[in-house]
Amino acid sequence: MRLQGKTALITGAARGIGLEFARAYIAEGTRVALADINAEAVAKAAASLGPQAVAVQMDVTRQDSIDAGFTSAIAALGHIDILINNAALFTAAPIVEITRADYDRLFAVNVAGTMFCTQAAARHMIDRGQGGTIINMASQAGRRGEGLVGVYCATKAAVISFTQSAGLNLISHGINVNAIAPGVVDGEHWDGVDAFFAKYEGKPLGQKKKEVGAAVPFGRMGTAADLTGMAIFLATPEAKYIVAQCFGVDGGNWMA
Ligand SMILES: NC(=O)c1ccc[n+]([C@@H]2O[C@H](COP(=O)([O-])OP(=O)(O)OC[C@H]3O[C@@H](n4cnc5c(N)ncnc54)[C@H](O)[C@@H]3O)[C@@H](O)[C@H]2O)c1
Repeated sequence: MRLQGKTALITGAARGIGLEFARAYIAEGTRVALADINAEAVAKAAASLGPQAVAVQMDVTRQDSIDAGFTSAIAALGHIDILINNAALFTAAPIVEITRADYDRLFAVNVAGTMFCTQAAARHMIDRGQGGTIINMASQAGRRGEGLVGVYCATKAAVISFTQSAGLNLISHGINVNAIAPGVVDGEHWDGVDAFFAKYEGKPLGQKKKEVGAAVPFGRMGTAADLTGMAIFLATPEAKYIVAQCFGVDGGNWMA
């Protein structure tokens, strides 16, 4: 087991990639606080993973909720060694149809959520004096624009930029901050993305998913399980000299 005795808090862990990270971390010996805005879903998710998992209701857009969520995770686990900033929202629209409401919603979760959960974890890790690991979920969407995805792409570019600043600032405390940039990962999230493209590109439901999967150099869409190796590695001592980086785990999609 590569992460025996560690503890982790993962935001947005009620489903999808965050839930798969929790499963993989537990298999490596870590106790995990699954944090999500959806209290019922995260309780179910944690229960499905057994006694090494605890559920925490947390809305990453609210400071009082972040504070309460970290307090209850630390009470349950003793301390937190690893934070994965995974919670995010997606939207799509042509530039002329972007709304202030969508801009505010996405930046609040994807950017402010990442920044202020990082801050809460960093304060705890610095107080404890034993370093830590923070992994931010970026995206290939943060590395280049997409015509219909202006708001989401901008949030993920901000996540990559913040990873660089936080990585540089926190490494003096032994806290490694890095990011993972997935490509297209199958799951409920992408069902939502597919519906946006159906609307704006006039495609039948499911068509965009087929197209993006076929375009990945590896030959298919990613799965959440494809990402767990990087999430585990970044939390091991072997990764301690890796600082402020963003790693594509995308079957070659961004490079292509
Ligand atoms: N699925 C993909 O193709 C893909 C590609 C690139 C990057 N990513 C990134 O990976 C991460 C996980 O993606 P996913 O596909 O599992 O997404 P998902 O939509 O399936 O899961 C996101 C989770 O975040 C939770 N959440 C939303 N708002 C929240 C809030 N305010 N506070 C706390 N939790 C909140 C949701 O309830 C949900 O459980 C995200 O950061 C996403 O941007 C995903």
